[in-house]
Amino acid sequence: KEKWTSLTRKGYAMFENCMMPQKYAELKNEFDKLKVNEEDIWVCTFPKCGTTWTQEMVWLIANNLDFETAKKVNLDQRFPFLEMSTIVDFSDEKSNLPNFQVPDCVVDSLGVIKNLKSPAFIKTHLPIQLFPQEIRNGTKKPKIIYVARDPRDVCVSFYHHSTIIDYFEINFEEYCELFLAGKVLYGSFWDHILPFWEMRHQPNILFIKYEDMKKDLKKVIKQVAEFLGRTFSEQDLERLAKHLSFDSMKNNPAVNKEILVELVKKFYDKKNDGSFLRKGIVGDHKAAMSPEMLRKFDNWIKDNIQGTDYVV
Ligand code: A3P
Repeated sequence: KEKWTSLTRKGYAMFENCMMPQKYAELKNEFDKLKVNEEDIWVCTFPKCGTTWTQEMVWLIANNLDFETAKKVNLDQRFPFLEMSTIVDFSDEKSNLPNFQVPDCVVDSLGVIKNLKSPAFIKTHLPIQLFPQEIRNGTKKPKIIYVARDPRDVCVSFYHHSTIIDYFEINFEEYCELFLAGKVLYGSFWDHILPFWEMRHQPNILFIKYEDMKKDLKKVIKQVAEFLGRTFSEQDLERLAKHLSFDSMKNNPAVNKEILVELVKKFYDKKNDGSFLRKGIVGDHKAAMSPEMLRKFDNWIKDNIQGTDYVV
């Protein structure tokens, strides 16, 4: 267990203004030079913006609603995580306790990604400045679905995530300060989201919001389907929306990350409970944050969206 209250965390470092496990240093160049396939589909987010939800939606849309495979094969395998292996493929000796180190798994993912057959599905939380060069310089344009969420809810969700998956001891107030300072894993929320907001009109980029998925999931499904060149009947849309509902996903072991959570729990010898699909609501921050913290967040939002047309 790690007590992490200062602005630097043991085993982590800043890479181009993005907080990553130090292990990332060994691979940064390789990510930079990664050969990108234009047929591939990427889901890119700041953590806790609805990545998993979107991945399951995108995978099913692109695979003609193959619910059978989606139930059988874990999402982390169907849709691997570029910079960290969460395919804690449990046969892998790395994942055998007690040697498995959560930050160490950064090392595993690249080989997996390189060996994927195209069209592949790739999840990343990397900010644009750490994307492969071929995407940054525009020579390759895979389809990228970027998902955003109210940063206040992201902060609450990320704090809980940190207590169950990326385990360290810190209280919520302290975590909020780190979040505002851009010192949590993946760094600054605004440095992540605003460049993609600026790029949202590029034909290979679709920018969607968690809150819109909550408000009208079928509408967002249709938007994503159109982006991926698919159409579905009303009946299919209903089926997919049902499959993607919070309760259905919470009870679906192929997407609810229960194995990962169990593994981390054992690794840290952690007793208290928590699940990856936690509440799945909009506005959770209102109850979670003190009035003073809410004011701090309001000012921080105002300062950061000033001069942009981004709306939280
Ligand atoms: P909460 O912690 O607020 O509940 P990510 O996949 O990017 O890590 O995001 C996780 C967040 O998305 C969690 O938010 C989780 O509950 C929420 N989420 C996942 N699946 C969802 C669904 N089907 N409906 C609504 N929210 C969902």
